[in-house]
Amino acid sequence: MRVAVLTGGGDCPGLNAVIRAAVRKGVQEYGYDFTGFRDGWRGPLEGVTVPLDIPAVRGILPRGGTILGSSRTNPFSAENGVRRIRENLDKYEVDALIAIGGEDTLGVAARLGDEYGIRCVGVPKTIDNDLSATDYTFGFDTAVNIATEAIDRLHTTAESHMRVLVVEVMGRHAGWIALHAGLAGGANAILIPEQRFDIDQICGWVESRFKIRYAPIVVVAEGAMPKDGDAVLKDSSLDSFGHVRLSGVGEWLAKEIERRTGKEARTTVLGHVQRGGTPSAFDRWLATRFGLHAIDAVRDGDFGTMVALRGTQVVRVPLAAATAKLKTVDPGLYAEAGVFFG
Ligand code: F6P
Repeated sequence: MRVAVLTGGGDCPGLNAVIRAAVRKGVQEYGYDFTGFRDGWRGPLEGVTVPLDIPAVRGILPRGGTILGSSRTNPFSAENGVRRIRENLDKYEVDALIAIGGEDTLGVAARLGDEYGIRCVGVPKTIDNDLSATDYTFGFDTAVNIATEAIDRLHTTAESHMRVLVVEVMGRHAGWIALHAGLAGGANAILIPEQRFDIDQICGWVESRFKIRYAPIVVVAEGAMPKDGDAVLKDSSLDSFGHVRLSGVGEWLAKEIERRTGKEARTTVLGHVQRGGTPSAFDRWLATRFGLHAIDAVRDGDFGTMVALRGTQVVRVPLAAATAKLKTVDPGLYAEAGVFFG
């Protein structure tokens, strides 16, 4: 049995831990061979591979990024994409494919399985934690820790200079990172994509914070939008899955707050820092377990499934369930944080 592995979409701390665990268990316990496909779906599309065996995965557990490379290639928008993937799977004698990715990468795996009979098992990853079929995705915990540390550090500058500091974090459709890091870091406002924000209300919170001689920290998810208006974008180009490149709302907010309140306001955009570097212990644990369970799904011939965390159990769910609906922040959960605003 030859198993191919690919990592697609934005990189995410813990990807290497999944690869290592799947290869270790697959080789040691089941006697499988492995092939790595480079750069997400570009690998099987263009036939670009890397050797994947036990020596190749030694020492990668704490390493960020992915030894396989990643991309946002969508084979369904490439000419003869499915035919080319099939030819390359035959050429490299691949019997099964483990696809590690978010909604786009897993969406492709689900379609390749359902419509073309390609044998895929999915592993969910995204720092955004917005896949509904799993309680957590790895990468999220690391991103929250990085963002929380940044907020802690920004408090000191905010207070020394009595400035408003706006911290823009990732979160395209879901405000999980903003909510968790904002609560953990003691933010005075948390703005998420699920709830449109009111700039007058934010300015009210800023002013009330200054009245008690403290400087406010505003945490905003990149996908958050004002009540009257659209997403604030610096760049409107689309990737091959049709997503715009976000970022810009933090800068816009700081300018508006400064203009309306007369208080100096600055922005820190955490960007890819949140996805970089070594995974947290939780993410290594989760990613390792996902890798072990993914190779078990291959052994059981349970294709068209994805591994998922439910409580403390790793279970299998249909791949389609991973992409059916995004897991967004519940209004009740967001309302809990409101006691700290202002
Ligand atoms: O999907 C994960 C994510 O980190 C989003 O939060 C963010 O919008 C996007 O990736 C950024 O992707 P890229 O690095 O390709 O611009």
